[in-house]
Amino acid sequence: VSAERIRNFSIIAHIDHGKSTLADRLLLTTGTVAERVMKQQFLDNMELERERGITIKLQAARMNYQAKDGEAYVLNLIDTPGHVDFSYEVSRSLAACEGALLVVDASQGVEAQTLANVYLALEHDLEIIPVLNKIDLPGAEPERVIEEIEQIIGLDCSNAILASAKEGIGIDEILEAIVQRVPPPSNTIDDPLRALIFDSYYDSYRGVIVYFRVMDGTVKKGDRVRLMASKKEYEIDELGVLSPNQKQVEELHAGEVGYLAAAIKAVADARVGDTITLAAKPAAQALPGYTEAKPMVFCGMFPTDSDEFENLRDALEKLRLNDAALQYEPETSSAMGFGFRCGFLGLLHMEIVQERLEREYDLDLVITAPSVVYKVVTNNGEEIYVDNPSKLPAPNERESIAEPYAQVEMITPESFVGTLMELCQNRRGIFKDMKYLTQGRTTLTYELPLAEVVTDFFDQMKSRSRGYASMEYHLIGYRENPLVRLDLMINGDPVDSLAMIVHRDKAYGVGRAMAEKLKELIPRHQFKVPIQAAIGSKVIASEHIPALRKDVLAKCYGGDISRKKKLLQKQAKGKKRMKAVGTVDVPQEAFMAVLKLD
Ligand code: GTP
Repeated sequence: VSAERIRNFSIIAHIDHGKSTLADRLLLTTGTVAERVMKQQFLDNMELERERGITIKLQAARMNYQAKDGEAYVLNLIDTPGHVDFSYEVSRSLAACEGALLVVDASQGVEAQTLANVYLALEHDLEIIPVLNKIDLPGAEPERVIEEIEQIIGLDCSNAILASAKEGIGIDEILEAIVQRVPPPSNTIDDPLRALIFDSYYDSYRGVIVYFRVMDGTVKKGDRVRLMASKKEYEIDELGVLSPNQKQVEELHAGEVGYLAAAIKAVADARVGDTITLAAKPAAQALPGYTEAKPMVFCGMFPTDSDEFENLRDALEKLRLNDAALQYEPETSSAMGFGFRCGFLGLLHMEIVQERLEREYDLDLVITAPSVVYKVVTNNGEEIYVDNPSKLPAPNERESIAEPYAQVEMITPESFVGTLMELCQNRRGIFKDMKYLTQGRTTLTYELPLAEVVTDFFDQMKSRSRGYASMEYHLIGYRENPLVRLDLMINGDPVDSLAMIVHRDKAYGVGRAMAEKLKELIPRHQFKVPIQAAIGSKVIASEHIPALRKDVLAKCYGGDISRKKKLLQKQAKGKKRMKAVGTVDVPQEAFMAVLKLD
């Protein structure tokens, strides 16, 4: 296909505003997928994604469309993940497009994440087509939402499309608008090959399957290609398009979107954002915008049963084949034994990995509370990064300590502004800005320490706003603060996996609350268990769990064996998610206690 007949676009939408439904409609209307096949959803195919109702990994679909001007066009839809943790991937898939549909639920309005992605699209000079979805709903107010889009984004909405993905309204208009308004890719077929990787996944038979957009030149099956960032070379075994199933082709030209397989062993070897070029005739310069995913949130993962350590290592290795952003290294904890310190892009990424380890690999894990990465200057002037609170150098060994800050943007109905401000204030937030939009909706901007954002901020925001507020955050750099390490001691021993870094002014409150929470969460034992919180050698809070009075077996009067067995089994079950810390069994929830203090 010649470049003039190609349109590459993506869909920007907030969760639940109808992106998948609209994508399905486009595939149906263009005859790319038959109705009966549609049921097994193409664009959201991971079980986990569907269950959580979010799209994590992006993919692509190629559609043939006969436009009203009589010409046949190829429309490539490049999907984007909807969550802030994956904003780098979003930016790469937008870089592979010339246009984007901005889909907004006409009964709701613009949400924070949508806003962030629209700004990304504008940075890449994408043509944006506003689509007001769900106009079939009685509560739809397209005029109000249009006003809101114009007000917040400053986007001209005079030619916004009113649609219902569910009822099939406005779909032809959307297809025509893509052809008429999205510019075709520039025709650089004679330049050296440059193709942008916007997604990849690991396939156990063919190796990594790489999704890319050819920006310049031509790529053919059998070509020897070089990845400009990883500097690795491969021979293309398989080249194809996504229609939306993989269909092999012999070659792809500038402007086209496709996939390749080349016996690549792990996604880390073909990272999102890397440039594919020809080994024999490489491009002078890689495409701009490549960065390596950097983990922002860390936690410890320990198997409840220490015999499972090797299995955990194998599982992490397998996940890593498919997840270039996942980091891990062995960690030895005096309290928990052998495990791994793992790094993630954000909290959602962390939850996804944890769930997969437990579900797909059937591992029982004890996971420690999330931590951010601190920048510490030691006494001898060395700058180090600390991702594990228990590794923080003692006060007399460090000059300064700085923590990462994020700018958080929230969009909320006006009535929740007070409670959200209170939340931000409690989390050491610095107020930056507040703007009133249409109909009592408000944007609220704060600067917050990332550590305060990763500990349950999102859930708190959702519950305080009864689900109505949305948020987005991005990092704005490190700031020095008077931070201290808070140690928790159980039965007299400091538990390294419970150590945390907190602001000096909050240390007493957090210490007391933690001691109380642990008292609540740790079951009674045959002996009294003291719990203490300390800063350095100074104990700031102290509680104890009274000893258990009765032996469970005492009830059985030594008689009925099967009943005894049952009771023991019951006890064993309750123990499943416990970790023995010295002689004390500590349940998983205790390690997450810090998330439950508010
Ligand atoms: P994620 O995949 O979670 O990002 O959500 P999404 O944006 O893809 O939304 P999805 O297409 O899954 O739609 C969310 C809900 O809205 C579903 O229950 C759809 O049936 C419904 N929905 C989508 N479009 C319309 C529409 O035009 N009208 C009505 N009434 N409902 C719609």
